Amino acid sequence: MIITQNLSMASIKTLLCITLISLTMVQLTISTDPDILTDYVLPPNTTITDPNYFTFTGLRPLVNGTYPATFTAIKVTQNEFPGLMGQSVSYAVLEFPIGSLNPLHIHPRATELLFVIAGSLQVGFVDTSNKLFTQKLETGDMFVFPKGLVHFQYNSNSTEPAMAVSSFGSANAGTQSIANSVFNSTIYEGILAESFNTSADIVEKIESGLKG
Ligand SMILES: *[C@@H]1O[C@H](CO)[C@@H](O)[C@H](O)[C@H]1NC(C)=O
Ligand SMILES: *[C@@H]1O[C@H](CO)[C@@H](O)[C@H](O)[C@H]1NC(C)=O
Ligand SMILES: *[C@@H]1O[C@H](CO)[C@@H](O)[C@H](O)[C@H]1NC(C)=O
Ligand SMILES: *[C@@H]1O[C@H](CO)[C@@H](O)[C@H](O)[C@H]1NC(C)=O
Ligand SMILES: *[C@@H]1O[C@H](CO)[C@@H](O)[C@H](O)[C@H]1NC(C)=O
Repeated sequence: MIITQNLSMASIKTLLCITLISLTMVQLTISTDPDILTDYVLPPNTTITDPNYFTFTGLRPLVNGTYPATFTAIKVTQNEFPGLMGQSVSYAVLEFPIGSLNPLHIHPRATELLFVIAGSLQVGFVDTSNKLFTQKLETGDMFVFPKGLVHFQYNSNSTEPAMAVSSFGSANAGTQSIANSVFNSTIYEGILAESFNTSADIVEKIESGLKG
């Protein structure tokens, strides 16, 4: 009886260990969008009828188009292109007129692989030890922004606009602007002042710049 009990305890411990190890492995494996168990995902109450569901034509205006007046990101996520649902990929086309900046931001759900297709860009990201990695990219260069890290892209050239295509390892990478999430949300001024080791009036100055 005692031996049986001991054996059961041992089995339970073994099971617990196996369960913990499996859970850890599952966590390690799920580093991207969850895998789907179908070939593709359709919106609720729709049935697929043709290849148009897998086609996105919204970027055609870029052909022979002109640069916008300010930095512009054209997103192609599952929101704009439902065919991407469940496929763990998306794109953005980034247009940088002369001297324009894609301000500090993060993508919480994906790594970004940026490809400069026109002009040049100054880019950078900061890792979790606050080390800055910055680079000057020329047309034809690629740069990878690791998932979830603060980054920026800047066209410092005074004569040439720049364009880049970014791919993401998620159908919905998400974008969180550092300036807006910190100073243009409703976080209490006291919290901000203490977090930044500064005074409330300086916090207010930054806030008013963003609120316009
Ligand atoms: C899908 O169809 C069902 C049954 O007709 C309906 O109850 C449901 O609200 C529909 N869902 C959507 C998202 O349209
Ligand atoms: C773009 O411009 C070229 C040269 O002017 C022209 O041949 C082509 O048809 C244009 N393409 C589109 C999609 O407007
Ligand atoms: C701007 O881009 C042009 C064309 O690529 C290049 O000739 C020029 O050197 C660049 N200027 C600066 C300041 O990088
Ligand atoms: C806050 O600023 C004061 C004065 O500038 C400085 O002495 C202090 O070390 C700072 N505290 C932190 C946590 O950085
Ligand atoms: C700050 O937030 C307001 C309200 O959400 C928004 O209209 C405005 O565009 C934001 N400012 C910037 C610089 O994005």
